[in-house]
Amino acid sequence: MLTRDINLAIDSLKKNEVVAIPTETVYGLAGNAFSEIAIHKIFTIKKRPLYNPLIVHIKSIEYLEKVAVDIPETAYLLAKYFWPGPLTLVLKKHPEVSDLVSSGKPTVAVRVPNHSLTLSLLDSLEFPLAAPSANPFGSISPTSAEHVFNYFGTTLDVILDGGECERGIESTIIGFENNEPVLYRHGSISIEEIEIKIGKIKIHTKNDSNPDAPGMLSRHYSPSTKTYLTNNVTELIKTFPGKKIGLLMFQNKATVGDTIIQEILSEKGDMTIAAQNLYAALHRLDNCNLDIIIAEIFPDEGLGKTINDRLKRASK
Ligand code: TXA
Ligand code: MG
Repeated sequence: MLTRDINLAIDSLKKNEVVAIPTETVYGLAGNAFSEIAIHKIFTIKKRPLYNPLIVHIKSIEYLEKVAVDIPETAYLLAKYFWPGPLTLVLKKHPEVSDLVSSGKPTVAVRVPNHSLTLSLLDSLEFPLAAPSANPFGSISPTSAEHVFNYFGTTLDVILDGGECERGIESTIIGFENNEPVLYRHGSISIEEIEIKIGKIKIHTKNDSNPDAPGMLSRHYSPSTKTYLTNNVTELIKTFPGKKIGLLMFQNKATVGDTIIQEILSEKGDMTIAAQNLYAALHRLDNCNLDIIIAEIFPDEGLGKTINDRLKRASK
C-alpha cells in the first residue's frame, strides 16, 4: 500500500520485509542491510542477479565507520560536501555488512540520501538500509510512488510515498583505486561539480565484463518500447514511415506532424529540470502503445553527460 506513515515501514523493516522508500534521486527497494534474509528478498523481488551489489543507505556521516573501513581522506571530504545528497562512495567494506550486499566484493557502496521521510525512517532504525532502485532489473527507474506500485503492485506491503523525486536521476558513484577517486557512474551530481571540490578525477572505463563496476551494464534503464537515440530527430523519423512514434526532446518541439507524441523535458533548456523529468517522461511514453521512441542526444556537459549515459543504455 502507498502510505506516508513511517511507522508502517519501521514495522515491516524490523520483520525483515522489503519496503519501497523515496529518495531525492529515485525510489529504492529497501531492507535491513545487516539481514541476509532481507537482502535475499530484495534480489528476488527485483529479479536482480546476485553479482550486482546494492547501495547501503545510512542516516549520517557519523555512521560511515559502521559500514566501511580504511576510509580515504578524499572520501570524507566528498561526504562532507555532498551528504545528505546524491553521491555514493565505494569504500572498503566493514565485516558486519553481509557479502550478499556487496556481491562478494571487498567494497561497499554507501550514501546518505536527502529525503526528509527516509532520513526520519533511518533515524528510527538501528540498522542501515540496503536499497537498489525500485524497478525490475534493467527497466526504467521509478521517480514516484505510483511508478513503484505499477511495477510491484501488492508484492510490497509498504510503499512509502514521499512524492516525486526532486533529482529524478540516480546518484553519482565514486570509488577509489590506490586512494585516487574514480568515477564509476555519472549521476545527479555532475562530474564538473565534483572536480570543483577535489580536482580532476579519472573516469572508469566500464564494460559488461568489468568486475569493478558490475552494475554498469550497457543495456539498462530501458523502456519496453524500442528506443533510438539521435542528433537528428527529423531525419530519423523519416526512416520509420507509418510507425507510431514518441519523441523525447530536451527543449524544443520537433517540427513534425501532430500525430507524433512529444515529451519536452525542459522548455527553458534547464538541464536540472530535464533530469528531474527524464524517467517520468519515459514511463509515460512507454505506456502509450508506441512502435518506437526516439530520444534526442543532450549537450555533452554537466548533467547532459548523465542524461546521455542513461539514454544510451535505454536505447541498447
Ligand atoms: O540514487 C541511487 O543511487 C539509487 C537510490 C535508491 O539510492 N540507487 C541505485 O541503486 O541507483 P542501484 O542498485 O540501481 O544502482 C547501484 C549501482 C549498481 O550499478 C551497482 O553495481 C553499483 O551501484 N555498486 C554497488 N555496490 C558496488 C560496489 N561495491 N562496487 C562497485 N559498484 C557498486
Ligand atoms: Mg538501478
